[in-house]
Amino acid sequence: MAILASPMKGFYNMSKKKILTVIGARPQIIKAAALSRAIRSHYASTIEEVLVHTGQHYDENMSAVFFEELGIPLPDYNLAVGSGTHGHMTAAMLSGIEDILYKEQPAAVVIYGDTNSTIAAALAAAKIHIPVVHIEAGLRSFNKAMPEEINRISADHMSTLLFVPTKAGINNLTNEGFQLEQHLPASIDAPNVYHCGDIMYDNSLYYAKLSNEKSTIIEQLGLQPNAFILCTVHRDSNTDNPKALQGILEALQQLIVQTNLEVILPIHPRTKNKIESLLSADFQQKMAGQKKLRMIAPAGFLDMIALEQNAKMIITDSGGVQKEAYFFAKPCVILREQTEWIEVVAAGAAILTGPNKEKIISAATHLLGQKITTDPAIFGDGNAAAFICEKIISDL
Ligand code: UD1
Ligand code: UDP
Repeated sequence: MAILASPMKGFYNMSKKKILTVIGARPQIIKAAALSRAIRSHYASTIEEVLVHTGQHYDENMSAVFFEELGIPLPDYNLAVGSGTHGHMTAAMLSGIEDILYKEQPAAVVIYGDTNSTIAAALAAAKIHIPVVHIEAGLRSFNKAMPEEINRISADHMSTLLFVPTKAGINNLTNEGFQLEQHLPASIDAPNVYHCGDIMYDNSLYYAKLSNEKSTIIEQLGLQPNAFILCTVHRDSNTDNPKALQGILEALQQLIVQTNLEVILPIHPRTKNKIESLLSADFQQKMAGQKKLRMIAPAGFLDMIALEQNAKMIITDSGGVQKEAYFFAKPCVILREQTEWIEVVAAGAAILTGPNKEKIISAATHLLGQKITTDPAIFGDGNAAAFICEKIISDL
């Protein structure tokens, strides 16, 4: 790949801004759909987007399916980094992204959330003086044992524009010394921080309509509305510790007996691998015998929304699924000790349990008796993507 030796000066004043978006993990592909749609429909004359996929997620049902069904343009580059240890993955992404940045010379790099793809892109860009735009900035779990906490704190401190979904995120950033006054142009030393709502809420509103029209998963699985629990598990703290993983699965089995609800578990490849490698053959056989515990392949987004909308309750350790539970007014058991989305817990719509079997059962039992609403409106008005485009144009 050709590499330009010149420093990155003078690219910020072009009338049409070229942004380079870096995605890699499933939720980032989904989030990128909202910005990409806003650019194509309203900002095509002012913003040009180059899309880089690191290849962190690569299975058909963890990556390609989202490009097809969400109508996202195919990536201009795919680094095909694949799976590995944190260091190996991040290093491969860092060097691949840097090569592309020298070639494309964008006005800014757009990153999402807190994955290894996020930190690699932030570091590659910041070191060669390309402004970083961090979408879903400011979130904190205050648990640095989470790889995502390291990624998100570092990415925020390398960013020039920080788009924060919630008030709690704004508080976290001000506590870390970020100022809220605006700078024109913004820079890494004088970043602009905006409370703009959640880009995933834009998506859920938009794709819920499409999901109602197109998804047939409820019929395919023979499900009745409000007669099943939807569950997802993929955090390393839950999957890589056999006691935690087994505790969660035992809780699900007991809830089936107690409530007579089915459990639908679209299974992340990490979790599938860990069930097979860490749990005893006896336990796996017992699980297979529980016909109401239904493990299915990772769902496409339209199917996932249909499952969420029709579920009686959601049990998850996913960041995105926690929020979607709230968007669709579903009670949520959060299989974590902390959450970045503290407002949802404060509203009484979700309970933190970690992987503790008794706590999961008790939280689920309590929440099944509660009426959940979407009040207060924690995640904005569904127009975060347009707001972000406006600020990219005006602030850089
Ligand atoms: C990653 C993110 C996490 C995010 C999640 C979304 C980091 C540190 N973690 O976690 O923040 O919540 O994505 O889903 O960036 N695998 C496959 N096929 C795939 C992808 C993964 O088989 O397409 C398996 C591999 O065995 C791999 C394991 O899943 O080692 C974990 O993948 P990885 O991307 O490292 O982390 P996630 O757990 O997916
Ligand atoms: N999701 C999906 N299919 C699934 C599981 C999740 O489409 O089988 C979607 C989910 O609706 C949400 C996003 O993926 O929009 C969340 O991604 P994930 O749980 O992998 O990561 P996290 O949000 O925890 O980083």
